[in-house]
Amino acid sequence: MPPRVNVRFVRKEDIEAIHYILTRPEVMWGTLQFPSRRLPSLNRMVESSEDGFSLVAELAEGPEKGRVVGNAGMQRGVGRKRHVAGLGISVDPAYHGQGIGTALMEACLDTARRWWSPLRMELDVYPDNERAVALYRKFGFEVEGRKRGVAIRQGKYVDTLVMSRIELAGSGPSESQQAEVEATASEASEANGQDGESNVPGPAKEAREMGPGAGRERLEGEVRPPVPAGAPNIRKLYENPGVLRQSSFLPWNVPTVEKIAEDLEKAIDRHTFVWTSKESVYGEVTLIPGRFRMARMATVSLLCIPPDTCYIARTVARDLLRAVVDLADNWLGFHRLEMETYTDELWLFDILERMGFRQEARLRKASLRDGVFEDRLVWARISESW
Ligand SMILES: CC(C)(COP(=O)(O)OP(=O)(O)OC[C@H]1O[C@@H](n2cnc3c(N)ncnc32)[C@H](O)[C@@H]1OP(=O)(O)O)[C@@H](O)C(=O)NCCC(=O)NCCS
Repeated sequence: MPPRVNVRFVRKEDIEAIHYILTRPEVMWGTLQFPSRRLPSLNRMVESSEDGFSLVAELAEGPEKGRVVGNAGMQRGVGRKRHVAGLGISVDPAYHGQGIGTALMEACLDTARRWWSPLRMELDVYPDNERAVALYRKFGFEVEGRKRGVAIRQGKYVDTLVMSRIELAGSGPSESQQAEVEATASEASEANGQDGESNVPGPAKEAREMGPGAGRERLEGEVRPPVPAGAPNIRKLYENPGVLRQSSFLPWNVPTVEKIAEDLEKAIDRHTFVWTSKESVYGEVTLIPGRFRMARMATVSLLCIPPDTCYIARTVARDLLRAVVDLADNWLGFHRLEMETYTDELWLFDILERMGFRQEARLRKASLRDGVFEDRLVWARISESW
């Protein structure tokens, strides 16, 4: 007989039991937990927040009545990802396969539905974690793609599946829509593949462009790390309508000059380059290293004025990506670089492909842009030396 459990919101006194569960070898195998995880780092689970909640499952009967045997939590996104909720779940290995994960999932989805109403619920799972994949499928989650070599597990780099559940019936992209994007991407690739450029990373000294604006005077520019005094020009880049559209900023909440300057001075774990000419900034790329078991990967954020208003857009994007790939491959040693784009940023696709990025997943309805829930594409580059 499977044990009966009560599922309730977490309390301070549950933290020790949750720490015990999270540091079991079977749980570390299925999650991103690690053996040196310190108990106080879990205290934030009990701090109340409108954007996250944690639940526990406790035994409802028997000699161990009240024992916490599982926990689960959800976190809501910010800004344009406010409609997205991420989910995590762990059960004491002594109780695996006895319906406790199911009880926690039911409670999580019910709480989220009643109090947040997320459009998209998402999670990452290792492909060989069959019990977890089965649990998520049972609750309507579908696989959207496979990220290569995201995290380390017992000394080996492993892939993850991206799974999501979309709340509006029939709102997911059809396979034909997906095929359409892929076809257009390879067409863009062919159309742009005639300039014979190599993808050997290295900073560019000169801007050239074959598209609209060809024949104009060449614009000299360089890729370099920004200085705090350049913050006003970076702010101008962020305010550009084309940049705003492809960024994660909300129009009324674009970082101020002071905030940009402060980040440039203090956020030393981030690596930023700008493409600049005569003090104007045409593009920016930032590399954000992953943490703990994802420490060998980094997320790339690229912001460029798009080609419809900037004739050197392709050069800018290519130079910035080269600089960041060089940094990752030759100086910082990241195995995996990951980047997201909207599906309509077609002009970037062949540049990404020539830098060795591959499309790995299509995240359905992952971002709200100008009143429309848009899909996002996940691109990743695995280093050759891996
Ligand atoms: C994944 C996990 C949360 C599932 O919780 P659980 O209590 O073991 O799951 P349940 O007993 O509710 O089973 C859920 C479903 O998994 C499937 N399942 C159960 N045992 C299975 C097994 N041995 N192999 C494959 N699928 C299995 C069944 O479809 C089951 O649904 P059903 O009982 O309606 O048929 C739990 O095993 C766990 O904590 N694992 C380690 C941490 C982890 O991997 N977390 C998930 C990270 S993404």
